Amino acid sequence: MRALIVLCACFFAVTNLIAQSFMMNPYGCAEVQSLNGKWNAIVDIFGKGESMKLYQNRRPTKDTEIVEYAFGGGLTLDVPGDFNSQSAELKYYEGNVWYQRTFAAKKNPNRRQFIYFAGVSYEAAVWLNGALVGRHEGGFTPFQFEITKLLKDGGNDLVVMVNNSRRVDGIPAMVFDWWNYGGILRDVLLVERPQAYVQDYLVQLKRGQTGVIAGRVTVAGATKPQPVTLSIPELRLQKTLTTDERGDATFEVEARPQLWEPASPKTYAMTLRTGDDLVRDEIAFRTIETRGTDILLNGKPVFLKGVNVHEEIPQRLGRAHSDADAAAILKEVTALGCNFVRTAHYPQNERICRAAEKAGVMIWEEIPIWQGIEFSNPVVLKKAETMLREMIYRDKNRGAIILWSVANETRPSDFRDKVLTELVALTRKLDATRLVGAAFDNIDYDQATSTFTLKDRVADAVDVVGVNRYLGWYKPFPADPKQLKWNVAPKQPMIFSEFGGEALFGRHGSPEIAHSWSEEYQEELYRKNLVMLRNVPNLRGTAPWVLFDFRSPTRMHPQNQDGWNRKGLLSDQGQRKKAWYVMKAYYDSIAK
Ligand code: GCU
Repeated sequence: MRALIVLCACFFAVTNLIAQSFMMNPYGCAEVQSLNGKWNAIVDIFGKGESMKLYQNRRPTKDTEIVEYAFGGGLTLDVPGDFNSQSAELKYYEGNVWYQRTFAAKKNPNRRQFIYFAGVSYEAAVWLNGALVGRHEGGFTPFQFEITKLLKDGGNDLVVMVNNSRRVDGIPAMVFDWWNYGGILRDVLLVERPQAYVQDYLVQLKRGQTGVIAGRVTVAGATKPQPVTLSIPELRLQKTLTTDERGDATFEVEARPQLWEPASPKTYAMTLRTGDDLVRDEIAFRTIETRGTDILLNGKPVFLKGVNVHEEIPQRLGRAHSDADAAAILKEVTALGCNFVRTAHYPQNERICRAAEKAGVMIWEEIPIWQGIEFSNPVVLKKAETMLREMIYRDKNRGAIILWSVANETRPSDFRDKVLTELVALTRKLDATRLVGAAFDNIDYDQATSTFTLKDRVADAVDVVGVNRYLGWYKPFPADPKQLKWNVAPKQPMIFSEFGGEALFGRHGSPEIAHSWSEEYQEELYRKNLVMLRNVPNLRGTAPWVLFDFRSPTRMHPQNQDGWNRKGLLSDQGQRKKAWYVMKAYYDSIAK
């Protein structure tokens, strides 16, 4: 059995890596055609579609022929968007949905064409004009395939099979506390690039130095070393690099950019040009590091006034994906007085990351290793590594992202410790410019000394330890909050990365009765947690769980929840609960 698992692991790794022709920031390229809009769709509950060859999108060619499917004239779905919120019958759907659309193209023999998916949950298979172009697993990171050889002049037929079934060896796996939205959740782009194009780049401050911009550029498709020009006009910086035989070039250049910080989120327009390929981006320059128990932003200690957000617009009952959605979420993040957001529990769409950067909000970003993961299965480590690579690949130039997190609330075991410490090491290898973290709920409490402690090899391996603890909700306070002591990761910065409790907006009752689901109970719970947090010597940030009420099939109380996790500081209609004002006052009391 083990041999078979190992074989599968290798197969998965090879499949996914071959499929990935990686591309950095297609939004910054010149020729990008959006394929968003209404797509035809077929719900394939029994998963017969691939054996029926739906991807051929056939029509009858003779009177005696029947074809028992057709794209068009039936269900249509908006792309981007989850399918669950587009049709009442699909609210709880988990399985295969086939999407199809045609698009016109004009082939240019001197250019290369790619199809880019910003995010498809959970698994995708893509065909163009009847030919398989690739498959991808992972619901929250982008992928793309080169289609140069398959693209036709005129009409092209694009078919995507999406499957959002949960799976034992998935990331996340069989149970998680959010809606299992499936579909083509984010943008689909047709991207055209020259034969030799900028495939990847990193442009950031050299770690710990505010006067040196360093990074690297990779040019794909070049047959010989290429000149690449990096320009940051506002810094009067123009530097031409020459790639090596592999297409790579690294650089360091002296510069004194204004440093990005929450109070002044300065970004610089940047271009990279090679031949007739031009990529544009906006870069925020800042340093982030730890020193003992402090987190230093641009060399100065910073307290992370945060909040957790899911990628969901509750008023619309669906996944967030647009600039307007990002603005709506960030508006409430900044209204709460936050300079920090944890985009739980998966890489959220690029627009939210860019909006946070513009708004001066630092980001903790994570892959969806959430609670029950099959760490003993080698395939799972390969999948996690791929998701980590794709997350860092996409967002490494987002200065607002200060921390990559590898896990949320996982149980210590030999397998789990090995997988997570390997992911921590890989994160550091992929990106030496940021902090590495994880969120832990396996906190011990000693009644005799009223002290919380944590003994965990993974906590020892990260820079920043996140603690999730629902005192006053899942467990009562074990003592007077003022008496509680914390001795967790005493030599590292600790962030209270999740705390809180549920309340139904407009439900009023006693602040002492938890099962009232009253705003007053939630308000008092927040007050008690904040009193306790005064006693945490290495506390360097807080992120209450959660900004908005959000949908979850695990929340089954018909009156109080009805499929909603009610821990929001705001209701699913954006109404601020009493606890919101407690957090607002706390953050306002902390010096900017
Ligand atoms: C956990 C978990 C969250 C979950 C929350 C809750 O800590 O990280 O994803 O929603 O607790 O129970 O509400």
